[in-house]
Amino acid sequence: MKRSLYKNLRIKLISITLVVSVGPLVLLGAAIYYQFGKLYKERINDQIRHMARSQSNAVDVFLKERTTILAMMVETQSFESLSNQENLTRLFWKINRRAEGLGLVDLGVIDSQGNQLAYCGPYNLKGLNYYQQPWFDQVLRRGKFISDVFMGFRQVPHIIIAVKGACDNGCWILRATIDSEIINRLVRSAQVGTSGDAFIVSRKGVFQTRPRFEGAILAQSDIDTQRFGEGTTVVEKIEESGDVRYLGGAWLKDSEWMLVISQIAGQRHGWLAGIRNTEILIIATGCVVILFAIVLISHTLVRHLEQTDNEMSELNAQLIQQDKLAALGKMAAGIAHEINNPLAVIGEKAGWMEDLLAEEEFQNSDNYDEFADSISKIEDHVDRARKITHRMLGFARRMEPRLDDVEVNQVLDQTIDILANHASINDIEIHKSFADRLPVIASDQSQLQQVFMNLINNAIDAIGKDGNIDVRTQLDKGWIRVVIEDDGPGIPEPVQKKIFDPFYTTKPNGKGTGLGLSISYNIIEKMGGRITVDSTLGKGTTFTVSLPLVLPEKK
Ligand SMILES: Nc1ncnc2c1ncn2[C@@H]1O[C@H](COP(=O)(O)OP(=O)(O)OP(=O)(O)O)[C@@H](O)[C@H]1O
Ligand SMILES: [Mg+2]
Repeated sequence: MKRSLYKNLRIKLISITLVVSVGPLVLLGAAIYYQFGKLYKERINDQIRHMARSQSNAVDVFLKERTTILAMMVETQSFESLSNQENLTRLFWKINRRAEGLGLVDLGVIDSQGNQLAYCGPYNLKGLNYYQQPWFDQVLRRGKFISDVFMGFRQVPHIIIAVKGACDNGCWILRATIDSEIINRLVRSAQVGTSGDAFIVSRKGVFQTRPRFEGAILAQSDIDTQRFGEGTTVVEKIEESGDVRYLGGAWLKDSEWMLVISQIAGQRHGWLAGIRNTEILIIATGCVVILFAIVLISHTLVRHLEQTDNEMSELNAQLIQQDKLAALGKMAAGIAHEINNPLAVIGEKAGWMEDLLAEEEFQNSDNYDEFADSISKIEDHVDRARKITHRMLGFARRMEPRLDDVEVNQVLDQTIDILANHASINDIEIHKSFADRLPVIASDQSQLQQVFMNLINNAIDAIGKDGNIDVRTQLDKGWIRVVIEDDGPGIPEPVQKKIFDPFYTTKPNGKGTGLGLSISYNIIEKMGGRITVDSTLGKGTTFTVSLPLVLPEKK
């Protein structure tokens, strides 16, 4: 019952302390992890947005540069001069020689009817009519035009840049083809890391450059351009692997194309995952250390509490025992008092009968001896009963000791004298070894004598026949110690605990009252001293009475 109480207390203590200490730690860890994740996401977003913007700017500049060159040619050269095949060829080679990187594949001049009047390039396209081409109309309307990527006659991906010129006879168009591989190369420089990709898609999601991983130029991509807002936008896409793919889209070419930067941020393996794992490790270690400390502290606390509780209940038991003794004492006193009166009468009558027996008429009686023997037995037993009642009264009275000037050695001498005869009959020698000049103390001489008498008597009884009793006195730091040592049979360990209990005796019925030691214990305790016992079975027993050194002038 009590065990489970302490167990419950221990569990409660551990769980409450755990919640209070580990809870905030885990919360803090979660908060840090969340903040890190947010920061990481923001950083990646910024990076991708920046890359998409700068890469789209580069492509925009690339296209603008080529459009400007064509516009410059239209403005600086007349229609007549450019529509001349020879002039156009010369110009084309001049441009290509000076700026190969321009990626100009061919150059053509088209009149307002759509006829290609002059053409310079790897194909024989001179004389073709472009009037039906969808871009033709757009150039005339807008002044310039940049096509999406298409295969054309050569089955090579390319784009067309066309610029409108004006002359007296109407409008004309200067048209150039650009190899889309150049744009490919430009975009590819933004394909970073092992998972990074960069490509251009049209508004319908058709690849305008070759993506690094899945898909081909002019193939349909899975990019939904509707998801991207104006300017530069970053959207997230969860991959099958659980990783997050960030797609940064920036519009270019009058919002006809979108440059897409794609980057995977590993949730499970990346930088963030590393931080998370380290954090989990730190928090877990912290939790284990805290748990260990909590268990240890709770265990120690509860054990301490248990110990204190046990001491308290032991103390309580002692108090109860003392109460019981007090009640017993009162009862014993009452009984002793009641028995004393009839005993006195019996004693008196026995004495009177003894006196009568001395008279002559009884002397000659046939039963004289029997009478005399009976009367003496009555007197013996009355004496014995008186002794018992006397002791019971002494036990119950517990009166304060009367203080005399007491020389302990002297009291012992007197006691030993009284018992010397009793001892020598039983071949027991009593050896004295007293300390010189023991201080005189303030104590109750007769009570002290009663104690010494009890102890020496017990020793004689224990030895039975033939043995030794040592009686020593010592002065020891404010105490007078009286040691009574016998070489009797000793007291078994479990019995030692009971010998100071009232009425505890091992003597045969009618021989001992079992009050001697308990009375002695009470007397010495009242005097502020102690009685202790030390006994070894088969070797003997030593009782030590310690008396405080209360000097007479201090009484
Ligand atoms: N010196 C000793 N050696 C061995 N046993 C002892 C010794 N002193 C006391 N005892 C044991 O302690 C018990 C209690 O002693 P206590 O003096 O209280 O009562 P008692 O001697 O039995 O009775 P009474 O004192 O009335 O004669 C004894 O019965 C005995 O068993
Ligand atoms: Mg005794």
